[in-house]
Amino acid sequence: MDRLNSQTGQRAPPRSFVRRSGRITRAQKRALEQLWPVYGLDEFPQSLVLSQAFGRDAPTVLEIGFGNGETLVRSAAAAPEVNFLGVEVHLPGLGRCLLLAEDAGLENLRLIQGDAVEVLKKRLPPASLAQLRLFFPDPWPRKRHHKRRLVQPAFVALLLRVLEPDGVFHVATDWAPYAEHISSVMKASTAFERLSRPPSRNATKFERRGSALGHEIWEAAYRLRPSY
Ligand SMILES: C[S@@+](CC[C@H](N)C(=O)[O-])C[C@H]1O[C@@H](n2cnc3c(N)ncnc32)[C@H](O)[C@@H]1O
Repeated sequence: MDRLNSQTGQRAPPRSFVRRSGRITRAQKRALEQLWPVYGLDEFPQSLVLSQAFGRDAPTVLEIGFGNGETLVRSAAAAPEVNFLGVEVHLPGLGRCLLLAEDAGLENLRLIQGDAVEVLKKRLPPASLAQLRLFFPDPWPRKRHHKRRLVQPAFVALLLRVLEPDGVFHVATDWAPYAEHISSVMKASTAFERLSRPPSRNATKFERRGSALGHEIWEAAYRLRPSY
């Protein structure tokens, strides 16, 4: 059944995730209690001030739906001069990511628990991201679920809001019909040009899973034209 917006009473757009309870290990629970104050950004009433959240001014990369955080943490460890922000709904994933961040001694990582759509809409300041990464988003393969896919024209409007001029949207999937969908949604926007080669990145857990199933990996990066 469709959700209703509690303020307007209108139908809210379907979410790209279902809340899974998932088992939390003792170590993840400890991480959520002790490390969240270090890396976590709690509900903030107004727009997030990135220079305050990170304690410095630096280019910021956002990863949406980082899963267990393995790729996010490796990227942050490899580029200490860059701020990395991760948004994820799944609590055990956040716990796992915190543990990896602690092991790596990261200082350039901050995490938000919640729906990335809300973060892009309301929390991030306009033109604040150098890169937005979306690696192996849920493909929602059934036709009646396609509206749950994150990449839609409304998502492109949010990209236009949060990316800096020349900012890059980097996306990868192992689900060919979703790749076609993303490609056509992005092609329809004159604000973006596809780069001839995406930036280098580390493999993700879901990517390995897709590859093991024989899925072909599709990947693309789109640059926001500075005139927009
Ligand atoms: C298929 S998994 C991929 C995880 C990871 N990127 C990887 O490649 O291993 C998709 C992840 O996106 C998260 N997710 C889906 N919709 C989201 C949203 N709107 N905001 C934040 N996270 C979301 C899910 O909880 C899930 O962990």
